[in-house]
Amino acid sequence: MPDEVEIKWLCDIKPEALAESLRMAPDAKTTADYHDLLNDPEVDAVSICTPNLMHLQPALDALAAGKHVLCEKPLAMNGHEARQIVAAEQKSDKVFQVGFQTRFTGEAQFLRKYIDSGAMGDIYYARTQALRRRGVPGWGVFIDKEKQGGGPLIDIGVHVLDLTLFLMGHPEPVSASGVTWNMLGKNPDLYNGWGDYDRTKFTVEDMAVGFIRFANGAVCVLESSFMANIKDDPFGTTILGTEAGAEIFFYNDQRVRIYRDDNKELFDLTPRSIPEVKTSHVAEVQAFVKTIKEGAPSLVTARQAMMLNSIFDALYKSAETGKEEAIQLV
Ligand SMILES: NC(=O)c1ccc[n+]([C@@H]2O[C@H](COP(=O)([O-])OP(=O)(O)OC[C@H]3O[C@@H](n4cnc5c(N)ncnc54)[C@H](O)[C@@H]3O)[C@@H](O)[C@H]2O)c1
Repeated sequence: MPDEVEIKWLCDIKPEALAESLRMAPDAKTTADYHDLLNDPEVDAVSICTPNLMHLQPALDALAAGKHVLCEKPLAMNGHEARQIVAAEQKSDKVFQVGFQTRFTGEAQFLRKYIDSGAMGDIYYARTQALRRRGVPGWGVFIDKEKQGGGPLIDIGVHVLDLTLFLMGHPEPVSASGVTWNMLGKNPDLYNGWGDYDRTKFTVEDMAVGFIRFANGAVCVLESSFMANIKDDPFGTTILGTEAGAEIFFYNDQRVRIYRDDNKELFDLTPRSIPEVKTSHVAEVQAFVKTIKEGAPSLVTARQAMMLNSIFDALYKSAETGKEEAIQLV
């Protein structure tokens, strides 16, 4: 967005990463210490795109320095960290937006409007999937539980669960039951389609399933995998309401479908008026800049993102205890 935004600084502890970013913003200053750019009064906003382990401190420091923040997803490693960011967000008058771009797809914007119109009635169930047959990221630290906080659940399950809660209107999650498996990702004999990685260092789950209860009686079942023996790689959600059901999946051409009953006949509907969006990442950044310029409230708050971290805490704990666990929101 060169007409609206000037990239003043690039920060990375790895010189080679800085050099690569400099190709896109050759006039930017560079540093390995993010405090340098926080100390620059000309900087209005920062984008935090470090690994999950390095979201908390930069987020707190950026808000304390009076900067607007676009923070990558998941908000933090766990609910405890996320709640600290929420407390800082609530004290600040700056925009804090979390990087959940799936909400900014034309499909999500369409369906949210459709639900808001009342056309689906009361939403009582969601089935949400971010499943990969063979999709362990071969770069970064995505297989390292200590640096990521978890595996596919926290990395890609987080996107579809965010989409689902956005569509459901963010009902309050109260408890969750989960199971995780770690059998395929560490097996050196299996194919991986997303690059090579050291199988001995795979410390996250291959797959997680969860059952989440909300205070309004609604339920969501979530499935997420980096590796599973399935046909496709579904990424999306199915939402059931009393008047209609709907699904958004991003792996086939019919991305939004609506299932309803009219005059005692069944209809499968494909909407034709999906808003056009260049890419959801672009739309997310445009929304961030627009929100700052208009002084409007954040479209993806830290509190909404904290709910996801807190749900995952309960799911991971339940996977250990074998019991349904309470979700801590404060
Ligand atoms: N929204 C999305 O679609 C999406 C996609 C990919 C990644 N992500 C998120 O972005 C984040 C980063 O993922 P990635 O794939 O780019 O990881 P990556 O490992 O490729 O890049 C992270 C960079 O952060 C740098 N870094 C680490 N600690 C630092 C510090 N203290 N100060 C400055 N730089 C530091 C690393 O050197 C590295 O270059 C993660 O939170 C991930 O979940 C989001």
